[in-house]
Amino acid sequence: MSLEKLSRWLALTAIVALLVALVPMQLFAQDPTATPAVDYAKQRTKITTSAFCQAQPTGLTLKDITVGFSQMENNNPWRIAETESMKAEGEKRAGKYIATDAQAQTAKQVSDVEDMIAQGIDVLVIAPREYEGLTPALEAAKAAGVPVFLVDREAKGTPCEDFITFMGSNFIEEGERVAQWLVENMGEKGKVIELYGTIGSSPAMDRATGFRNVISKYPGIEIVASQSGDFTRALGQQVMEQLLQAYPDVNAVYAHNDEMALGAIQALKDAGRKPGQDVLVVSIDGTRDALQAIIDGELGATCECNPRFGPLAFDTIEKFLAGEPIPTKITVEDMFFTKENAKDFIEFAY
Ligand code: AHR
Repeated sequence: MSLEKLSRWLALTAIVALLVALVPMQLFAQDPTATPAVDYAKQRTKITTSAFCQAQPTGLTLKDITVGFSQMENNNPWRIAETESMKAEGEKRAGKYIATDAQAQTAKQVSDVEDMIAQGIDVLVIAPREYEGLTPALEAAKAAGVPVFLVDREAKGTPCEDFITFMGSNFIEEGERVAQWLVENMGEKGKVIELYGTIGSSPAMDRATGFRNVISKYPGIEIVASQSGDFTRALGQQVMEQLLQAYPDVNAVYAHNDEMALGAIQALKDAGRKPGQDVLVVSIDGTRDALQAIIDGELGATCECNPRFGPLAFDTIEKFLAGEPIPTKITVEDMFFTKENAKDFIEFAY
C-alpha cells in the first residue's frame, strides 16, 4: 500500500471509529432510563455534631418490627414526595409499615401518634408540624418504650431522651443562601416582602433567621412586610395580592417555600407586574414547578430542601437496631438552583 493510500485508509478508519463510538453515546444520552452518574434525587448528608445516642443492640432487624410514620400534612409536592419516599422504603424494608396524615393540625398529630402506639408500633418517625406542641406525643412514645426519629422538622425535646436524632436540612443556611443571591441580584438595595411559612414551624423560624443574618448587613435592603402564607400556594397568592396593594413599589419577594413563591408569581402577573424582571422572586425547596419557573425566567433562585427521607430514615433505624451510635443530628446537604443549572436538574425534581 502506498503512503498516500495508507494515510487515506487511516483517516477513514479514524472517522468510522469515531462514528461507532458516538452512536452508543448518543443512544445513552437519549435513553431516559439510563442511570445518571450521580443520583441527584438521593439525599446527601453530613454529620455536624459530636454528640451521639448510644443504643444497645436489639437483636432485631427492620423485618422484625413495625414502623409508624406520622406525617403532618400532604398538601403540596414536597410533602407528597416525602410521604412517598417513606412509604416506598417502609414497605420494602420494615416488617410492617403504617402512616398517618395529621392534615395540618398539631392536635391531630398528637392523637395520630397515640393511635399508632396503641396499634403496637416498635419505632416512630415524625415529621412535626410545629416545634412546640408535640410534647404529649413524645411523652407517650417514651412511656411505651418506642424510640422516636425526627425527620425534616425539629420538635422541642432533648436528643437521646425524647428522640434519638433529627434528620433534616439546615434551614438557617437555606435562608442565608437565598438572601445572598438576592443581595447580589438586587444591587444591594430595595424593598422585600417575606412570605413566611407555617407559624411555629422550625423551617419558618430558621429560614426567617437565616435571611435576616445576611440582609441585616445591607442597610439599603428593607423587609417591608412579613406575613404567613402557611407554606401553601393558594395562601401565598392571596397574601401577595393584599401586600402588593400596600407595597406596590416592592422589588423582591422572599417566600419560605416554592409553593408560596408560585402563588406570589401568579399574584404579580395578575397585577400586571413582571416577576423575574421588575420584581425578583426567590424561595426554597426545588420542586419541578419551581425549576420550570426558573427556566421561564419568573423565579430567580430556589435553595434545595430534599424531601426524600425514606432511605436515610430506614438506614438510621437499622443502625439503631444494631446498636450503632447515632449522631443526634444528621444534616441533609442542599443544592442551589438558578437559571445556570435548573434545566440540568428538572428531570430529577418532583
Ligand atoms: O419542612 C419543610 C417544608 O415544609 C418545605 O419547605 C415545605 O414545602 C413543606 O411543607
